[in-house]
Amino acid sequence: MTEVPHVPVMLERCLEALAPLEDRWFVDGTFGAGGHTRALLARGAKVVAIDRDPTALAHAHALDADLRTAGVADPRERFRFVAGNFRDLADHLRAVGLEAVDGVLLDLGVSSMQLDEGPRGFAFRHDGPLDMRMSGAGPSAADLIRDADVADLAAWLHKYGEERHSRRLAHAIVAARDEAPIETTGRLVEILQRAYPPGPRRDHPARRTFQALRIVVNDELGALEAGLHAAVDALTPGGRIAVLAYHSLEDRVVKHALRDRADVEARTKRPLEATESEIDANPRARSAKLRLAVKVATGGDPT
Ligand SMILES: C[S@@+](CC[C@H](N)C(=O)[O-])C[C@H]1O[C@@H](n2cnc3c(N)ncnc32)[C@H](O)[C@@H]1O
Repeated sequence: MTEVPHVPVMLERCLEALAPLEDRWFVDGTFGAGGHTRALLARGAKVVAIDRDPTALAHAHALDADLRTAGVADPRERFRFVAGNFRDLADHLRAVGLEAVDGVLLDLGVSSMQLDEGPRGFAFRHDGPLDMRMSGAGPSAADLIRDADVADLAAWLHKYGEERHSRRLAHAIVAARDEAPIETTGRLVEILQRAYPPGPRRDHPARRTFQALRIVVNDELGALEAGLHAAVDALTPGGRIAVLAYHSLEDRVVKHALRDRADVEARTKRPLEATESEIDANPRARSAKLRLAVKVATGGDPT
């Protein structure tokens, strides 16, 4: 089998949560390099995999090839890849001829590969174009920074980055933009480093701003909210949804969306966190929070 470039986050616990059944369809809404999908397939489940990043297609082709090598004559009977946003889950399922599935997995945020690729602009540690678009479409982070006013910028940094110095950083960005357009991650990092107040820091001065811009560029929280509802709608009674979130804003959306629906029962009051050995296997697991819920039948017609 082709090597998957990283160890999927909390893999065993995701499998336990989803309890994949032989020959039943599951959705992996965040295919990435396909680590979780491969494990579901290895347990005998069938998988519809979705990813909005066009580079995921190469991993889907590799998986198709591996299924053929393993003797599956028509991989489409076990595995379907759809390039798109999981917020449109219902359309994606219809397109592959399915109405309902037994489980949905969402492993949110950016992949290690997206972070490691400088030209994508997701990482403040790599210099590259200030892009941050998972799908490659729509306005980039550089476009947003060019067009936003101070109030917008400060609001984004505050709301989506939970950045304490949002106003100060927003002013610094606008002042620097007036000198020359901000088109690279390196330049933005320099501006943030210079503007950040001196003194002890909890984390890198650019971390929260990068998180905020990425969330806005990709409408990550809007997609998550819509995707969670679409996922629950698509579950058969008894079907399961497992979600891995990586920061408190994502986790809050997951918690509320699953709690507010009458047709799902949360199975994790508090989210599960990674053990030391899961963190050793993939350091990204350090901030992971896994929530599980099960679809229940809703009363029906009392007559
Ligand atoms: C953390 S990675 C998933 C890694 C994957 N579980 C694996 O084992 O390789 C998240 C992936 O979800 C994709 N993604 C994020 N938001 C999405 C959305 N709204 N719709 C579809 N894909 C999305 C990203 O492009 C990225 O490839």
